[in-house]
Amino acid sequence: MGIAAEIADDWHAALAALAWEVEAGADETILDAPVNRYELAAEAPKPLSAKPVSPPVAADPVQADPAAAARSAAARAQTLDALRDAISGFDLCELKKGARNTVFADGNPKARVLILGEAPGAEEDREGRPFVGRAGQLLDRMLAAIGLSRTSPDSEAAFYITNVMPWRPPGNRDPDPAEIAMMMPFVERHIALVDPQVIVAVGNTSLFALTGSKGILRARGNWTLALGKPLLPMTHPAYLLRNPAAKREAWADLLSLQARLRG
Ligand code: URA
Repeated sequence: MGIAAEIADDWHAALAALAWEVEAGADETILDAPVNRYELAAEAPKPLSAKPVSPPVAADPVQADPAAAARSAAARAQTLDALRDAISGFDLCELKKGARNTVFADGNPKARVLILGEAPGAEEDREGRPFVGRAGQLLDRMLAAIGLSRTSPDSEAAFYITNVMPWRPPGNRDPDPAEIAMMMPFVERHIALVDPQVIVAVGNTSLFALTGSKGILRARGNWTLALGKPLLPMTHPAYLLRNPAAKREAWADLLSLQARLRG
């Protein structure tokens, strides 16, 4: 086996030499001197499992459960300003990394009606305010038709508006269930601090966030309860822009909201 040892660092030459030896009749590989394998066993490298290992690093409980971190941050917020700061400082949701602004809320926090949308789009992300794009303008006109405005100082004539997600998802995709679950403690605290008389959920994401079920086209117009408040699910104004025929049902839903506020 001397030849192979001499040229061991040249893989191709070694292979060619081995082939030659096999051709010449070699049927086993041995070293130039005998080896006592019983002695070798005592010096053998320790198996991997015997290697000292560093103690396992305890998982960071905050990283392991972002919803728990959100829950404790939300619970500490005693005012809307504190809640806005808590959300802006929350770094565990990946969507924040791609957003320009944290979109918190708009409107009158004393309003009887809280509108819950889905997530900011491009214009909301740029401006840092919810529902300022085309869909938001339609929503403003719809609510104005029943006497509600986000700029009214009168709590009876005002609405307050926020979203399930304060950061724009890439490509305007829907927030996924894990992202929604992570941010729900903030949504719940937000609603508790505003303490509206009724909630209007526009679109599937907000319906899902508040009730755990989807199917806004079936649910719309049917009053239910969420977080201890009357909840009216409605189609999202972006859907109404794409499907103008559905405005008729949305109008019926607005009248139902108006009747509830009057009653
Ligand atoms: N759609 C939403 O659901 N929210 C916004 O803020 C804008 C568009």
